[in-house]
Amino acid sequence: MTQKISVIGAGLMGSGIAQALAMGSKSVKLYDISQDAMDKGMAMIRKSLSRFVRAGHITEDQSGATLERIQATLNLQDACRDVDLIVEAIPENMELKQKVFAEMDQYAAAHTVFATNTSELSVTAIASATKRPEKVIGMHWFNPAPVMKLIEIVRGTDTSQKTVDLIRRVSEEIGKETVLVEDRQGFVTSRALAAHILECMRIYEEGVASKEDIDKAIRLGLNYPMGPLELADYVGLDTLLFASEGMVEAYGDRFRPPQILRKLVEAGHFGIKTGKGFYDY
Ligand code: CAA
Repeated sequence: MTQKISVIGAGLMGSGIAQALAMGSKSVKLYDISQDAMDKGMAMIRKSLSRFVRAGHITEDQSGATLERIQATLNLQDACRDVDLIVEAIPENMELKQKVFAEMDQYAAAHTVFATNTSELSVTAIASATKRPEKVIGMHWFNPAPVMKLIEIVRGTDTSQKTVDLIRRVSEEIGKETVLVEDRQGFVTSRALAAHILECMRIYEEGVASKEDIDKAIRLGLNYPMGPLELADYVGLDTLLFASEGMVEAYGDRFRPPQILRKLVEAGHFGIKTGKGFYDY
């Protein structure tokens, strides 16, 4: 059983992943570069745990035990030591990811598997920064990670079946469902999400309906939990712009970012995280 897991990056996704693993009884080391980032990550975990307690899904004691299973560290070498699996959730920048994976490769034991939470970068290219490409895999989580059921497993060109099996097992042990996809731009989920959201932004630009009515139509008429424009704000407009640019390269014009998306990002309005996007927060 894979019991000891490290999570690299304590941002929105990294902290949620660490929490989901700890709620699934895993012993977790959570790493970030600064105390400030770590404090913010731990605050998000405490806030989310209290929502689970309030909703009656877990008890106060279980919440406390979950927190105790998470050990914070600001030292990457320490984070990589004595763990079976490392899940990386740092910003979506290939150069940065390759640099961190090369460092992890030096510090971690030979048997340790490396998973990346990238939602759009090439898992194969990230793996190439290490001397263990057969042990590198995509483990794509969804926000909010402690709530969302799916893990999208992405098999890179050299990823071994043993590595796929380990991620599937760990995911099941913490109560998640999995799908297995090949390493193609945007996998299944990011590609489908971008297609949906970008088209709804174009509907808005064309003046077919107000943003509120577009969101209401998709929520109530198609039964999505969130409308596309509120979901865009939730995911982050900067993230969506970056993802769509990668997909234009792979699939052509149908993923070209609408002007409205580009302008909001140029203005620094990234959605919920900056307090303004399609809506104000
Ligand atoms: N921590 C703990 N509990 C949480 C939570 C969190 N962060 N967020 C929501 N919840 C719980 C609530 O407490 C509530 O619990 P109960 O039903 O037991 O009371 C439940 O989830 C539902 O929450 P709400 O009633 O507040 O609101 P909701 O019904 O709209 O659900 C949601 C919230 C789960 C976020 C839902 O709106 C949803 O599924 N939205 C779509 C999210 C989505 O698409 N995420 C993927 C984005 S793409 C991505 O992440 C990948 C990428 O690569 C970019």
